[in-house]
Amino acid sequence: MEAAIRIRDLRFTWPGSPAPCLTLASLDVPRGERLFIQGDSGAGKSTLLNLIGGVMPPDTGQLEVLGQPLDRLHPHARDRFRVDHTGFIFQQFNLIPYLSVLDNVLLPCRFSTRRRTRAGASPVAEARRLLAALDLDPALARRPAANLSVGQQQRVSAARALIGQPALVLADEPTSALDARRQQDFIALLMQEIAACGATLLFVSHDPRLAPLFDRNIHLLPP
Ligand SMILES: Nc1ncnc2c1ncn2[C@@H]1O[C@H](COP(=O)(O)OP(=O)(O)OP(=O)(O)O)[C@@H](O)[C@H]1O
Ligand SMILES: [Mg+2]
Repeated sequence: MEAAIRIRDLRFTWPGSPAPCLTLASLDVPRGERLFIQGDSGAGKSTLLNLIGGVMPPDTGQLEVLGQPLDRLHPHARDRFRVDHTGFIFQQFNLIPYLSVLDNVLLPCRFSTRRRTRAGASPVAEARRLLAALDLDPALARRPAANLSVGQQQRVSAARALIGQPALVLADEPTSALDARRQQDFIALLMQEIAACGATLLFVSHDPRLAPLFDRNIHLLPP
């Protein structure tokens, strides 16, 4: 099967840092795999997801995502690629604080025709479906994202990542702010959405109890 992710000799150094924050000799993720990523705080898990999401380029190495060599793409093309193909639940959510909950969820559809088309006839209805599945009160939909609790914002971020069936979902500790019941609801929805479109999932978490729910489990070590 074609690889969703193919990494060779990847190295990344944050500006101002004397040494690399991430070195990874190789990682192959087949399409449709659900991969659980563990590692100590500071090991480079978020850095790895940001590289795979095309937020920044590696210093050196090969990084192919869905057959596209991201390490060779222009920054603008990387952004384009991310919005078309990747749903990213950032560790700190990265919601637009002054936009409403609904408009935050709809952002990928606004920037990507592909995501809009894949969200069905009514992206607004699809956004509301995802928010309801994450047990977010419909009365919150028109509120600015900044007015929500942290756990509510995390669910908005999850709905935004899943809208329009991205081929790759990157989830950076996506349940860190959720209570036990909502954690379960979220994982159930995530697995269902991933299965429905055959997407690949990279899921970073400190909670080892979640690991058995995934196809494979890796442990990232600091360089
Ligand atoms: N924006 C940044 N600028 C400079 N250094 C950074 C930046 N972000 C992270 N780092 C450094 O890169 C290393 C890896 O950080 P990263 O956030 O990837 O770790 P992590 O495994 O996601 O940790 P956590 O489990 O706490 O989220 C750390 O040493 C951190 O200090
Ligand atoms: Mg992190």
